[in-house]
Amino acid sequence: MQNNHNIIISQGPVCLKGSVRISGSKNASLPLLAATVLFKNKVVFTNLPHLDDIGTLAALLSSIGSQVEWINDGLTLEHKDKHSLYLDPNMANKIRGSILLLGPILARYGEIRLPMPGGCPIGKRPIDFHIHALEQLGATFIVEEHQIYGVAPAGLKGAYIRFPKPTVTGTENLIMAACLASGITVLENCACDNEIDELIKFLKSGGVSIERNHTTIIIEGKNQFLEAQSPFKIASDRMEAGSLLAACAMTEGHIELKYESCPGLDVVLEHLTDMGMDFSTTPHGLRALVNKPLRARSFITEPHPGFPTDLQAPFMALNCVSHGFSMIEERIWENRFFHAEEFLKMGAQLSIQGSQVSCHGHRTLQGALLTAQDLRGSCALLLMSLVAKGTTIIQKNHHLDRGYEFFINKINMLGGKISRQWCNDKELSEYGIKRSSLVA
Ligand code: EPU
Repeated sequence: MQNNHNIIISQGPVCLKGSVRISGSKNASLPLLAATVLFKNKVVFTNLPHLDDIGTLAALLSSIGSQVEWINDGLTLEHKDKHSLYLDPNMANKIRGSILLLGPILARYGEIRLPMPGGCPIGKRPIDFHIHALEQLGATFIVEEHQIYGVAPAGLKGAYIRFPKPTVTGTENLIMAACLASGITVLENCACDNEIDELIKFLKSGGVSIERNHTTIIIEGKNQFLEAQSPFKIASDRMEAGSLLAACAMTEGHIELKYESCPGLDVVLEHLTDMGMDFSTTPHGLRALVNKPLRARSFITEPHPGFPTDLQAPFMALNCVSHGFSMIEERIWENRFFHAEEFLKMGAQLSIQGSQVSCHGHRTLQGALLTAQDLRGSCALLLMSLVAKGTTIIQKNHHLDRGYEFFINKINMLGGKISRQWCNDKELSEYGIKRSSLVA
């Protein structure tokens, strides 16, 4: 029997040039979709990215009574009275974003049985902060190996809650739950990522009073469901924008990013400016240009507004081909260096020690057979293939589709030479790949 393998084939080196539109933000869209459970009428989102993670969360919402309709560049969702609270484990396990149903479903129905969320294997990914904080609002939980069962029969009550450390989806869950709690909730030591501001903006448009002052968020609970007023346009994805800027820098290219609003890019722009990249604003967004060889820059990933962990992999790729020595320290996730092992196969000069990677940049990379293991890492492998000489083949590339909309098309429009192929064993051997080297 012939096996088929879905692989990405990329020919390098290339130089990226041209204009590209940045898609709606994945990590802003997920909490916005979950928040529709709190609304009494139809919600319309525009600029929603077509991504596997978004489709999975929409399907989960549909399974508990949301009428979901895909429209031109978005989605309408109307949460009808529940017909079931059963959430399919096979869907919930596929994405981390399913954890975002915990707060809103509990707040609306006083009960939830949530299969353990999945997502990229980048660390332990505990949910204790979500659970403890919701307990302070009056919920009780039984957390088992494969599911979380929560109840709040008397409804949720506003409380003072301090997170032990900033958590993005934890903050989002609590904001959503507090919207339908009685009284005031004060959340301290919150994450303050731009995606949280998008959620607050959306919930405020539904009639809740929410104030954020740095890492403190105050929510005045409403004893009634929220009411959507007009279509909500999702902001552009700062991680996609950052990844494309890294690609432009690596290929010493010249690109324009088109977007209406892409909050949270400042830290990336400062970082790249410091490396020697030039920027100018255009009527549609931002133009990036490399006029001189870029200097590698060390960085440490930290909660917002620090350097984002979700750009660690693409910016490690950039340091691999920039001049000089750099150190990268990952402080958010304990297991987010899969891509570094793959970079070594291309000839990158890296040394991995615990949560740190040291790197000597050079531009003589060679195409190789690589395995993607997580979303941001798979993007970084693709970026490396743009600079490497010859053919790079990336297997397990489905991770990319979970978080980057039309990414391969976009890179190709800018000058990339990337194709996706289903190959059988014989065709693979024509690329010099033995079946035994493929991951099952
Ligand atoms: N943490 C706990 N207990 C908790 C929650 C978090 O100890 O209950 C710890 C984590 O182990 C981690 C830190 O707190 O060390 C931050 O985790 P956070 O909860 O902020 O992560 P998350 O909400 O699960 C979101 C993004 C991630 C992104 C992180 C950090 C979504 C859907 N996911 O995850 O995005 O890396 O924040 O910015 O918003 C990605 O898009 O590729 C991605 C992984």
